[in-house]
Formats: sequence, C-alpha cells, structure tokens
Amino acid sequence: MTDWDLTPKRVADSHVTLTQMMEVTDANVGGTVHGGAIMRLVDTAAGLAAIRHAGGLCVTVAIDEMTFLEPVHIGDVLVLKASVTDAGRTSVEVGVRVDALDPISGGSRHANSAYLVFVAVDEHGVPRPVPPLIVESEKEKRRQREASLRRQARLAHKAAVKAAREAEAAEAPGAAEDV
Ligand SMILES: CC(C)(COP(=O)(O)OP(=O)(O)OC[C@H]1O[C@@H](n2cnc3c(N)ncnc32)[C@H](O)[C@@H]1OP(=O)(O)O)[C@@H](O)C(=O)NCCC(=O)NCCS
Repeated sequence: MTDWDLTPKRVADSHVTLTQMMEVTDANVGGTVHGGAIMRLVDTAAGLAAIRHAGGLCVTVAIDEMTFLEPVHIGDVLVLKASVTDAGRTSVEVGVRVDALDPISGGSRHANSAYLVFVAVDEHGVPRPVPPLIVESEKEKRRQREASLRRQARLAHKAAVKAAREAEAAEAPGAAEDV
C-alpha cells in the first residue's frame, strides 16, 4: 500500500486556470455553446484542482449547483478558475468559476459557476486519504463554511434516498432495481 503524503496544503496549491476558445463543434442547434461542452471543461478544470490537492488520481463523485448565468458564443474564450474549497477524509469539494471573454472587445462575463466533489482513489480504485486543507483568508474560510453546508446537504440527500429505497425494497422486493 502507498504511503500518501498528507502534509496540509493551501487553497492556492490546488489553483488551476484552464483557457479554451469555443468553436463551431461546441455549439448546440440554437447556435450558442452547448451546456455539456462547458460541463466537460468544468469537470476537467475541477479534476485537475482535486488531483493537485490530493497528489494523485481523483474521480468525480458528484456535480451540483451548476448555474448557467449567461449564454456563451462561438469565438468566446472561456477562462475556468478552479480550486479546492474543502477537504474531507477521502474527498474534496472544488469550486469552479467560468468567465466568457470576448477576445475582440476584451469584455468578460461571468458565465457559469459550479461545485463538484472528487474522491481520491488508490491503484485499486479504493478511496484513500487526502491532505487537510489550510484556509487562510476570510474568503477561503467563508467558502469552506459554505462547502461544509453543501456536504451535509449532499450526504443527507444520499442517506434519505437510500433509506427510502430500502423501505420500498422491504415492502415490494425488486420494485426499485431499475431506477
Ligand atoms: C467515488 C467512489 C470510489 C466512492 O465509493 P464509496 O463506496 O461511496 O466510498 P465511501 O462511502 O468511502 O465515500 C468516499 C467519500 O466520498 C464521499 N461521497 C460518497 N458519495 C457521495 C455523494 N453522493 N456526494 C458527495 N460525496 C460523496 C463520502 O462522503 C466520502 O468522503 P470523505 O471520506 O471525505 O468523508 C465510487 O462511488 C465510485 O467509484 N464512483 C464512480 C466514480 C467515477 O467513475 N467517476 C467518473 C465519472 S463516471
């Protein structure tokens, strides 16, 4: 088994900026950029931030609070900024902010924000510990408090669904298997 380096890391240690111009192949039938194309980039930027914090492979376990604030157009340059907001035992939450930059006018719009959860895994795909997160500024502390609230909500939701399925399975075996 690998000895993981669990030296605490700062938020800045995970910071990632990903920049990509949107092209015709990113568009939907309405002519603006497909939400899924942005989601893929968000997942990539967030995954890199998680890997930087964990010091190894991480897998996406949850994506939530993805809000599309503005349409993105072909020719816009997307700038995605990602960093870890909180670290649990084996998981990290990553926040991503996406700005759409018009390279001609130089104008920039806040297009999208998202929070994702990644789990660090070992060579067998089994969750393994991650370093604690050092939060320094007031902003980092606020983001960590909010991440903690989202974590509680996610785990409560997961537990509620599990309990409901178990109750249903006890009443009518096999009924919930296709969901
Ligand atoms: C990620 C994975 C290894 C976790 O397995 P698991 O059996 O749920 O593991 P655990 O119960 O030990 O949970 C591991 C961590 O994930 C967190 N977690 C599990 N389910 C979660 C959910 N639905 N939302 C948020 N966090 C979750 C737990 O809180 C725990 O975090 P902590 O150690 O910081 O407290 C497993 O679900 C998996 O392999 N999923 C597929 C991942 C993948 O392939 N993603 C790519 C996209 S397809």
